[in-house]
Amino acid sequence: MNSSRPRRNRVSAGLRALVRETSLSPSHLVLPLFVHEAAEAQPIASMPGCSRLPIDGVVATAREALALGVPAVALFPALGDAVKDHRASSSTDPDGLLPRTVRALKAALPNLVVITDVAMDPYSSDGHDGLLRDGRIVNDETLPILAAMAVAQARAGADVVAPSDMMDGRVAVIRSALDAAGFTDVAICSYCVKYASAFYGPFRDALDSAPRSGDKKTYQMDPANVREAEREVRLDEAEGADWLMVKPGLPYLDVIAHVRALTPLPVAAYHVSGEFAMLKAAAANGWLDYHRCLLESLLSLRRAGADDAARLLAKAGG
Ligand code: PBG
Repeated sequence: MNSSRPRRNRVSAGLRALVRETSLSPSHLVLPLFVHEAAEAQPIASMPGCSRLPIDGVVATAREALALGVPAVALFPALGDAVKDHRASSSTDPDGLLPRTVRALKAALPNLVVITDVAMDPYSSDGHDGLLRDGRIVNDETLPILAAMAVAQARAGADVVAPSDMMDGRVAVIRSALDAAGFTDVAICSYCVKYASAFYGPFRDALDSAPRSGDKKTYQMDPANVREAEREVRLDEAEGADWLMVKPGLPYLDVIAHVRALTPLPVAAYHVSGEFAMLKAAAANGWLDYHRCLLESLLSLRRAGADDAARLLAKAGG
């Protein structure tokens, strides 16, 4: 037998700790939260343990997360049909639900990093991330809407704006609009390599934001592709993104590793709603241990290349 025995490094917990290659701690995490106008929390059926929260519930949950060492939250507003229209007009209302939530968070928890999502879908009566005309997404007319939305979010106090829409050219217009409005320190976390994934289903239930017609395949990436990620990375770098994100997480570990190798920017990965729901469903049947499987999943995102300077987005709950 060969004298090299890999098991020697595994024989005790102490040795395993000394040779561990990857770590996962609360400081790596971003907690996504859903906010709504109602005064009570409303459970999200397809995301057991998660609810749409009133603003004070968001503040209380963020306080708890911060106390546990989670430095950031990502906010998503669940809006009624009455405030949705084709142009997502309410996304720039300074008194809209999202800006009010950001202000409440920054007033209560000044050290919390607040990340806001830039995309039309929660505000759009079409449920698309871009402007829809005659059944098509009009990329360039969407850009000023996204830029105005990002400035409104920065004005409310967002530390990081996160364009999740996958329109071409959005990072550049958002960067120049933020700079022109004086928000040179507000960072952009680009959802750079975002796939047209079926794993977003529970999220769209939570926000009632599913496309009312068609799908998102004309802007989100084809799950079959990975070389194409390099084009997205190079553009977002050149346009001024501060972090790059890959989304979803677990089915795209190869993509995370690829993007990590391509760029010096921090790389984040998103453990999306469907990944969370899968674990919860199996756990509810007694088939998996939720917490152990969650930690293993998140650690795997780190091992693949979501690095120390980057953040993982993980649903909490349960
Ligand atoms: C919206 C957006 C989506 C998610 C984050 N921002 C859904 C989508 O693109 O349809 C998904 C998050 C998740 O599933 O956890 N632009």
